[in-house]
Amino acid sequence: MLEITIAILDGLPDPVLLVNSRRAVVAANRAARELFVAPMVGNDLAVALRHPAALEAVDAVVRGATVREAEVTLPAPGSPSYRLIAAAVRGDEGRGADWPAAVVTLQDLTAARLTERMRADFIANASHELRSPLASLVGFIETLKGPAKEDAEARERFLDIMHTEATRMARLIDDLLSLSRVEIEERVPPRDAVDLAGVIRGTIDLLSMRAAERNVALELDCPAGVPSVLGDADQLAQVFRNLIENAIRYGRAGGRVAVSLRAVERIPERGVPGVAASVADEGEGIPPDALPRLTERFFRVDKARSKALGSTGLGLAIVKHIVGRHRGRLAIESKLGQGSRFTVFIPAASPR
Ligand SMILES: Nc1ncnc2c1ncn2[C@@H]1O[C@H](COP(=O)(O)OP(=O)(O)O)[C@@H](O)[C@H]1O
Ligand SMILES: [Mg+2]
Repeated sequence: MLEITIAILDGLPDPVLLVNSRRAVVAANRAARELFVAPMVGNDLAVALRHPAALEAVDAVVRGATVREAEVTLPAPGSPSYRLIAAAVRGDEGRGADWPAAVVTLQDLTAARLTERMRADFIANASHELRSPLASLVGFIETLKGPAKEDAEARERFLDIMHTEATRMARLIDDLLSLSRVEIEERVPPRDAVDLAGVIRGTIDLLSMRAAERNVALELDCPAGVPSVLGDADQLAQVFRNLIENAIRYGRAGGRVAVSLRAVERIPERGVPGVAASVADEGEGIPPDALPRLTERFFRVDKARSKALGSTGLGLAIVKHIVGRHRGRLAIESKLGQGSRFTVFIPAASPR
């Protein structure tokens, strides 16, 4: 009976131990044997797990409690922490010393902790990003109410700065809302057949003024026969607005931004047919060590410069999540001094 129980427990991903009424280990599944290298079966649980709170929880269950929990940090590399759950095994009366009195499970909390940590960091960063334009607004309001009260010229100048700062805050909030919306929807794949060329044409029209301001030529190359993609048109428009905006902003003034589409047999690492859409600029490029961090929230290569250009640092994070929801890929290539190319691969809508 115990053998089949152990065979079943071996299939469980979490470490599981059975202990008898004297707290000796009577069985340990594979995950537990891998976690505690020392031999356990036949020994007091304290030999493998020298942790007062954990032993107290197990003792309480052995003495008659139904279930007890404890949090355990193991002295292994990286100090992994676990939630230990000790639960009584009923029906052990008169079965002898080898019969399990408690089942002890350990749940790894490392991943959950990491997620918690990332959440906390994100909130701290977002608050900090919102705090600085707000602080500047408050400062200018105070100046306008006091020292600059009668100075018409200063007033105009300060109001312009305040307008810029308020606009930056609004954009930051819009991007934060977009990001959380995209995250919420990420597990639900989009289902519409979308004409990507049409979406991109619309985006180019929308950004033509901005391109003209920097004297940038926006070009689109879309051969016939590019299939529709499986997508969400609004989100895909958001992807290309971000990429083309970046290309205009970080590209060379007076240069060219080339957008091109082509059909691909297989999307890299996905294997399904799709469309590759790339946005290439002739800007100064991105240093190789910054490439892997580009899609992190609030990451900017040159923080001061990007901020002066009105950036939020969230554009590429939003792009990454939208592409992920589309089961697509984002590839970034860049040569310092020559330019950057962002390519988005999106699976084709299956022909019906
Ligand atoms: N086409 C590009 N050329 C050079 N650097 C770029 C380009 N696109 C993005 N970057 C860099 O990546 C950073 C993050 O981009 P993004 O997430 O869109 O945020 P934002 O544009 O709001 O700063 C930018 O601040 C910039 O440093
Ligand atoms: Mg951007």
